Amino acid sequence: MAIAGTVVDRGLEGIVVGSTELSNVEGLEGRLTYRGYDIHDLAAHATFEEVVYLLLFGALPNRHQLADLETRMAANRMLAQPLIDWMQALPKDAWPMDVLRTAVSALALYVPHELDGVHPSNPRTALQLISKTASIVAAWDRIRRGLEPVEPRTDLSHAANFLYMRTGEAPIAEAQRALDTYLILLADHSYNASTFAARVTASTRADIYAAATSAIATLEGDLHGGAPGKVMTMLQAIGKPERAETYVRELLARGEKIMGMGHREYRVRDPRAEQLEAMAKRLGDASDPRWYELARALEDASNRVLQEVKPDKRIYANVEFYTAPTLFSLGIPADEFTCLFACGRMAGWTAHVLEQMTGNRLIRPQANYTGPAVHALEPIGGRRAHAVGALN
Ligand code: COA
Repeated sequence: MAIAGTVVDRGLEGIVVGSTELSNVEGLEGRLTYRGYDIHDLAAHATFEEVVYLLLFGALPNRHQLADLETRMAANRMLAQPLIDWMQALPKDAWPMDVLRTAVSALALYVPHELDGVHPSNPRTALQLISKTASIVAAWDRIRRGLEPVEPRTDLSHAANFLYMRTGEAPIAEAQRALDTYLILLADHSYNASTFAARVTASTRADIYAAATSAIATLEGDLHGGAPGKVMTMLQAIGKPERAETYVRELLARGEKIMGMGHREYRVRDPRAEQLEAMAKRLGDASDPRWYELARALEDASNRVLQEVKPDKRIYANVEFYTAPTLFSLGIPADEFTCLFACGRMAGWTAHVLEQMTGNRLIRPQANYTGPAVHALEPIGGRRAHAVGALN
């Protein structure tokens, strides 16, 4: 029973709302682990497919199990023709996350459902969602450019196939590895907002497609997965490394936040930023170093200025910061960055949904009511017009 006035922290900061075996964020130490494996080890020694297996099945796969998973993921890459036809009919300037959210929801239309409308939620449907999310993003990338979608290949890894489906050419090893590592780093992050949304949806006994759609919708905002596109906008606006500090000072003076900086959990630099920075530098050295150099200058300037204007806060680069120069160097346009985040996080979302469904209890918190006290209903003729609720 709720007691009026016992509101937990706004934004649930520091509130433990559930348990998970999937990943652990240690914000003070700056450590992220998936089922006990440090993400630095996974980024260095595993593939995205191995991480998918780890999250969905509880342990890293042996060779045979991995080959089986790779075959299943590859077999799921194809999109239903009506879904492609629908995408081809969309306005070409439709926002990529709007397309992705709607298309992932539409995946359920091509899967049989029970009499009550619920679709199967199991590792098979999880793999389907992981594979097809990447295919949707790649297909929309081409369709919006007026090109025909490229059919997926089954002989490529998940990351390589995504790049292939964008360009029609098998990617070089370095690009494939960079995207693979990016997807590993983004695969899970405990009860982040989108994962929590997925778990809340699943807790009502809605199915995995509904939960994945909730998660994508929640990812979109720039306090969560919508930040990296805006990091890219900042880098483009700054233009020269020596302008970074003035830019940051002006931005903060306007009361705005620096995108890609700060985190609810980390009190040190996000461990994923370290990996992504190294990758952005490597990719930049091999092509155009400008974006990495600008990002480096922006991070330095942000650290200096934030320490000066908010000395009691610990605000450091988060995962989104070096996502921008990394993905841009891979040829991904800035307005698709959040879709790439969704491609990686679909592994975590689906694993969390299946975990939530095991021993589920409805997630239903309470609110402290702050509206008017109980009062009589005024007959319509006696109501005064007031501004609140006026339709413009
Ligand atoms: N730039 C400037 N100031 C920032 C900041 C940023 N990126 N992030 C946090 N702060 C400041 C806030 O202004 C606030 O200062 P105040 O107490 O003086 O008002 C303080 O730090 C706490 O910020 P708050 O927004 O309450 O922290 P949070 O835990 O709710 O937010 C984020 C975490 C990620 C939402 C926040 O850091 C942010 O908005 N970052 C930019 C967007 C971003 O990178 N999103 C991707 C996250 S992975």
